[in-house]
Amino acid sequence: MRKSKYLRLFLNPDGSNFDSLIVNLRDSISYLKEWWEVPSPIPKDVDEFREDSQLPEAGEPPEQVLTDLIARLKKCRRLNDRNLSFMDPIPNIYTLIALCMVSLQNPNNAGKVKRVNRKREAVFQYEVVPNLEEESIMMLADIVGYDRHKAGGHVVSGGTVAILTALMIARDKSESLKDVRKEGLFGKKSVKVLTSKASHFAIRKAMRILGLGENNLIEVPVVTDEQISEFKKSHTPLPLRPTDSEYEEKLEKCEKMGEAIIAVIPTVGTTATRTIEPVEPLVKLRNKYGFQLIVDAAFGGFARLLDEPAKKIKDIEESNAIIIDPHKWGYVPYPCGAVLFRDYEDLKLLEYEVPYYEPASTIEGSRPGGPVAALWVALKTLGKEGYKEIIGKCIENAKYLEKRLREEGHYPVHEVDLNAVNFDAKCSTCNRRKQNKLNEKVKEEINKRGKFRISFMKELASIKIDGEPLSAIHVEFMNPYTSEELIEEFIDELKLAYRNAV
Ligand SMILES: Cc1ncc(COP(=O)(O)O)c(C=O)c1O
Repeated sequence: MRKSKYLRLFLNPDGSNFDSLIVNLRDSISYLKEWWEVPSPIPKDVDEFREDSQLPEAGEPPEQVLTDLIARLKKCRRLNDRNLSFMDPIPNIYTLIALCMVSLQNPNNAGKVKRVNRKREAVFQYEVVPNLEEESIMMLADIVGYDRHKAGGHVVSGGTVAILTALMIARDKSESLKDVRKEGLFGKKSVKVLTSKASHFAIRKAMRILGLGENNLIEVPVVTDEQISEFKKSHTPLPLRPTDSEYEEKLEKCEKMGEAIIAVIPTVGTTATRTIEPVEPLVKLRNKYGFQLIVDAAFGGFARLLDEPAKKIKDIEESNAIIIDPHKWGYVPYPCGAVLFRDYEDLKLLEYEVPYYEPASTIEGSRPGGPVAALWVALKTLGKEGYKEIIGKCIENAKYLEKRLREEGHYPVHEVDLNAVNFDAKCSTCNRRKQNKLNEKVKEEINKRGKFRISFMKELASIKIDGEPLSAIHVEFMNPYTSEELIEEFIDELKLAYRNAV
């Protein structure tokens, strides 16, 4: 019988085409060197969507397909030290090696080894990745301050699924929604969830998916009228933190109306400004009102390893669940999020029997092993010291830029907690509308010149000033190679861009 020509797309049973895999891999990724060495973060060529892309009648030669792929990948933005745009994390190279190795073995991380106090009840054959996952979860528990022997959690595709998982458990534990897991929400009273106006829209999505309804999400403002008028008068940076009294007022109001609040979700490292919202007062309010406290530390969780930010990230270890995304400040490639529960018993509420595996307690079914191994490698190769140094450099850079912007007459619009600075380009006569336009123009000019890549935030924390959104130029530091000298070069670029924009 004729052997299929497609067999060469797979490893031979005797491994005889293994060498060609290695050679192909090396040849394929060698384009990265030249691509990487171009200092601009923005490639000249733009990739075009190919509307006529077809499933071919017969498979095309893999060498040709890879050549086409390389030509397209060369047009991707570069994650070099000049890329200062919104959340472009450069992955730790050893995590990429782990990802590649495990992807070749392609284990399905669907089942989860059951354990009681970290001792196994059942061990199953394919245990390598579940073990790596458990070890990584324990290390993440150490980072956020949970007791590693009592906490549980798992690796998910990202912050969105992590939030969905934590909120699902909060919903199922709610006294007001008894038996919701089996009976659903029909006929039950609506319940509320509280968060801030600066939180990520993934929470709204989760409200919808869980049947709680987006309208039952109460978003607490992060600015007061006085702060806005001070900002308008003298550009005093906004703290962007919800006050305890705002939360308490809303909780009180809901209680009076007989509406149960099932969860409160503060953010440690908000998406636009990387602000650390206080968790401490919410722990006290939880004791009084009895909600589940879920901390969205998808971005800022790793910063708890550093002394300065840790002073602001207080009491997160008292929460019921924490979201922490290694594919953000953990320097692990996408997709790699994580959800942690202070009490492992909470995770058990998600458990399903799997007829073909061990019981699973994840929303996702089949799960990749690669990101788990990549996470384990990231945690082991960086350790506490590595994360402190790398994350510390990003924060230092943000503080340095904040200072330099002020010296140049521009206005950082918020207090800088972590690695992001959102700012207004200087303009003494601009109303908010004109200021927003100027900001966007400056950002475009900088990106057009191509030496740096930055972003623009259309609306910070739903704040309106004179009826207009508060938009700002967004600079974010994720690459530890970005130096003060480079920031000085950025300031020079800003001067030129500003001259062209006004
Ligand atoms: C604070 C925060 N939470 C949640 C998310 C959602 O995470 P993901 O995009 O990984 O689903 C983000 C994403 O930017 C975020 O910044």
